[in-house]
Amino acid sequence: LTAAVSALALTVGANTAMAACDDGEIVVKFSHVTNTDKHPKGIAASLLEKRINEEMNGTMCLEVFPNSTLYNDDKVLEAMLQGDVQLAAPSLSKFEKFTKQFRLFDLPFLFSDVNAVDSFQASETGQGMLDSMQRRGLQGLAYWHNGMKQMSANVPLLEPSDANGLKFRVQSSDVLVAQMAAIGGSPQKMAFSEVYGALQQGVVDGQENTWSNIYGKKFFEVQDGTTETNHGIIDYLLVTSVDWLDSLDPAVREQFQTIVKEVTETRNAESSKVNAEAKQAIINAGGVVRQLTPEQRAKWVEVMNPVWDQFKGDVGQENIDAAVASNS
Ligand code: LMR
Repeated sequence: LTAAVSALALTVGANTAMAACDDGEIVVKFSHVTNTDKHPKGIAASLLEKRINEEMNGTMCLEVFPNSTLYNDDKVLEAMLQGDVQLAAPSLSKFEKFTKQFRLFDLPFLFSDVNAVDSFQASETGQGMLDSMQRRGLQGLAYWHNGMKQMSANVPLLEPSDANGLKFRVQSSDVLVAQMAAIGGSPQKMAFSEVYGALQQGVVDGQENTWSNIYGKKFFEVQDGTTETNHGIIDYLLVTSVDWLDSLDPAVREQFQTIVKEVTETRNAESSKVNAEAKQAIINAGGVVRQLTPEQRAKWVEVMNPVWDQFKGDVGQENIDAAVASNS
């Protein structure tokens, strides 16, 4: 990167990122779908970009394309296998075409918080899952945290029966389809970039997401309110292609992977704080946040619990048990 090239890049708009890489550098395109500010993934991706471009200058050049400007999550993995993009971090809910193992992470009320998710991922089983799609050409590099999911709709949601008959946007996960059906809702899979418009126009009535996504994409502005259910998690797999990783010289690969590891540790430690700040920002902006009484929460747990049985064949009872054990 040179200052002159960067300055020029600012003036040429669409080619900004390409123009910032020097001849001979390995160009790494990182496509993701969220905003960059006040967002665990957005901040982590920007830090990775900064560190690679500073510490591997002359060797490697990373360009982040946030906000679905390059690919939606349903296209990005195919694009990666074609070699059109080298890094992405889709949520673990978006790998169903490649593996059913990650369905575990979508089971409602399985993990009590992000620390439990973290310790499960650090286990041998969790680390093994990083390699579960190698046969399909994809290599997991690290888990990146977002946080707990909350439920929002165009009516107040306090009892599960309040969701009866409502249309809910879900990520592309059959577990989440089953979860919304369990509360009497009508689930629709939809790309993240389309959710705001769908809520605004009444194509769907509600959605589930983390505070950082509800704030970052302004969903709270087109909903009656958000209920703090903490009923599930959104976590990410930082993923690349086996072919691309293999194509790197060993020393380059090692430096790249070391930076990835350090960025992961630094930013994962901050994800809960980033979400707490996003929640506060929603309240400051006039968004309504509702709390459940313990009795109301117990009803949501009870109504959603049969989903575990529906998917235990895919995810394995022993993995459910290990995940539950991580809630200490
Ligand atoms: C969603 O589609 O709601 C999320 O997976 C978006 C994201 O990347 O956090």
